[in-house]
Amino acid sequence: VTYEGAFLPYGRQQIEADDIAAVAAVLRGEWLTTGPKVAEFEREFAAATGARHAVAVNSGTAALHLAARAVGLSPGCWAVVPTITFLATANAVRFVGADVVFADVDPETGLLGPAQFEAALARAPGPVTAVFSVHLGGQCVGMDAIAAIARSRGIAVIEDACHALGTTECGAPVGSCRVSDVACFSLHPVKTIAAGEGGIVTTNDEALAATMRRQRNHGMVREPADFHNRDLAFAADGTPNPWYYEMVEAGFNYRLSDINCALALSQLGKLERFASRRQALARLYDELLAELAPLVRPVPRVPGCRPVLHLYQVLIDFDAIRLDRADLIRALSDRGIGTQVHYIPVHRQPYYKALYGDLYLPGADAFYRRTLSLPLFSGMTEADVVRVVTALKTIIGAAT
Ligand SMILES: Cc1ncc(COP(=O)(O)O)c(C=O)c1O
Repeated sequence: VTYEGAFLPYGRQQIEADDIAAVAAVLRGEWLTTGPKVAEFEREFAAATGARHAVAVNSGTAALHLAARAVGLSPGCWAVVPTITFLATANAVRFVGADVVFADVDPETGLLGPAQFEAALARAPGPVTAVFSVHLGGQCVGMDAIAAIARSRGIAVIEDACHALGTTECGAPVGSCRVSDVACFSLHPVKTIAAGEGGIVTTNDEALAATMRRQRNHGMVREPADFHNRDLAFAADGTPNPWYYEMVEAGFNYRLSDINCALALSQLGKLERFASRRQALARLYDELLAELAPLVRPVPRVPGCRPVLHLYQVLIDFDAIRLDRADLIRALSDRGIGTQVHYIPVHRQPYYKALYGDLYLPGADAFYRRTLSLPLFSGMTEADVVRVVTALKTIIGAAT
């Protein structure tokens, strides 16, 4: 695909002939779902992230929901969620009947740091039992500091790593759960690797993994050792009945099909290439945008984190360029360049405002006011980056 003269979206998948062949092979085979590709993908994903367990599910949202349930979030509990995130992070808390303490973020990086975490804990109206650390754009805040605060209060740490596949922090891949309980990934087409729709959870805790595996499939168990109804489960001679299964809790159908897993597996094999491509494109943006500083500057990089950026986010001084964000987005779009805003603070969504009222989170407001995500995906060329920066210079130059 070449984007010369074509519309350049802010993100998109990169599908190659071998990805298509991998999907076609599944379509010709025996198992469209609940087959061998699921376990194979989980094995490879665990190996790629360095986690002991990986559980594939059918979206990043499902991953967050299962993680929330597995760590025991339930009615009466509160969970800290940075307000600069996608809706799904907060919604996962509501799915299990728990409540959200929206936290402020660092105005420069959009991330929940230790100070914002502490402030959220101080405001929490009830017992906080989990924190969601969102790796916005692919960057992690110092996770050791977040985890230390959480551990000292018995709070579970869930990483919303939907943006951060390939990122390393303190030398360890995101998803290794070095200091967290669970990490959740999305395999949506704009993410670093695509499954169509899909998600995956990693953990080093066998019990959490077993719970999430069970809950992604209706809460069913098929292992004789797990059966409760011994009269129904076993024949008189103690042999397990071959048809028998049990449901020990209400679960979901969050299974990821073999079709999706085959695509994700094929894409995972390219992670290194995709990641270094994103890193090279981000470096070029950094270099070329230097000329537009301080009007436009990249979101600063967090020390100790080597990101594979999912989003190339910049901070723009819209007052100084004398152009508002909608006009800039329209002007870029007229030049065939797609952009997006990540994110509208979630606490401002009508649903959450009705629940928790107006909150004063100035760091989030300052970040939201200035942020814009420029096109970044592994299928882009250097010429595409040049085109984006040139367009920005032209539009901003004309406006000022
Ligand atoms: C930060 C974040 N969390 C969660 C999700 C949900 O992932 P999915 O779209 O796969 O359900 C997304 C997806 O956009 C996301 O960006």
